[in-house]
Amino acid sequence: MRVLITGGAGCLGSNLVEALLPHGHEILVIDNFATGRREVLPEMPGLSVVEGSIVDRALVNDAFENFRPSHVVHGAAAYKDPADWHSDAMTNVVGSINVVEAARRAGVKRFINLQTALCYGRPERVPIPIDHPMRPITSYAISKTAGESYIAMSDLPWASLRLANIAGPRLAIGPIPTFYQRLKAGQGCFCSDTIREFVDMDDFVRLVERVLEGPASGVYNVSTGEGHSIKEVFDIVVDHLGVRLDRPVPIVSPGAGDVPAVVLDPARTVRELGWQPRNGFEPTIRRVLAWYDVHGVTDIYSHLLASDRLGR
Ligand SMILES: NC(=O)c1ccc[n+]([C@@H]2O[C@H](COP(=O)([O-])OP(=O)(O)OC[C@H]3O[C@@H](n4cnc5c(N)ncnc54)[C@H](O)[C@@H]3O)[C@@H](O)[C@H]2O)c1
Repeated sequence: MRVLITGGAGCLGSNLVEALLPHGHEILVIDNFATGRREVLPEMPGLSVVEGSIVDRALVNDAFENFRPSHVVHGAAAYKDPADWHSDAMTNVVGSINVVEAARRAGVKRFINLQTALCYGRPERVPIPIDHPMRPITSYAISKTAGESYIAMSDLPWASLRLANIAGPRLAIGPIPTFYQRLKAGQGCFCSDTIREFVDMDDFVRLVERVLEGPASGVYNVSTGEGHSIKEVFDIVVDHLGVRLDRPVPIVSPGAGDVPAVVLDPARTVRELGWQPRNGFEPTIRRVLAWYDVHGVTDIYSHLLASDRLGR
């Protein structure tokens, strides 16, 4: 396969590069290093990197014309400043359109989009079925949902994977790196009173490999279907670091952009793709912590900040 990965220097993208390269696939990454890091993609046979933004239509077109990908994984996304709607819209909407149009012209065999579970907004029911209405409430989720909608309108052979929190090497968002870094530095923490779920990176990579090779089409929830409180995550980090707390951690109500429970129903994914996560909640969290022990936490990002007038 000739796989073009947008956002390939990011957390998920770089793990995919590492998994796909040993199988002899040729890979081209387009990344502007907004939240990704160049050093995670050292020179390797079979890997090329174009530094630039998917918002740059000429750059995207050149990359597709020169590389002629057979497959695309579209993972580039902007989210790091929740108040910067313009950047989110440019990358997640206009950038996605550029990638879709170039992929159509290149005649790619399969186009995989990485979508956020936040596309559903505040869910009416949990676990969230795949046909749940989409009512995104943050700039990140609104723009990602528009991007996914353009992909769905195209005549590409596409699949959009709506992801729970994928936990693995280089994770730089959410409670796991935050608790790890703060507790290690002796700083206080609080737990938002919310429920989330975590899918192990190896399970995610296995699913992407399956979708690259198989006939998956349309939208799929990628999840364990099993929710856990943020306090449960906190307790595992405390235990892992052997920290002694002098008082119980405060549990606080979810903030404006926060959704009380995000747990996806993976029924369609399991039924049609025969995929089941192999790693459970606690081992998944502990594998990330063990990775931080060796490599440290590099960055911590958040995309929370919402309109409270919608999605309630
Ligand atoms: N990690 C998760 O648990 C999770 C959950 C839901 C959805 N997703 C989706 O998966 C994809 C990858 O997420 P991630 O967690 O690896 O985040 P990430 O920030 O590590 O990766 C995103 C990559 O996109 C790059 N990028 C941003 N704007 C760009 C632009 N204009 N042009 C080119 N590259 C650009 C960044 O530099 C980064 O390398 C994203 O589309 C995200 O919405 C991830």
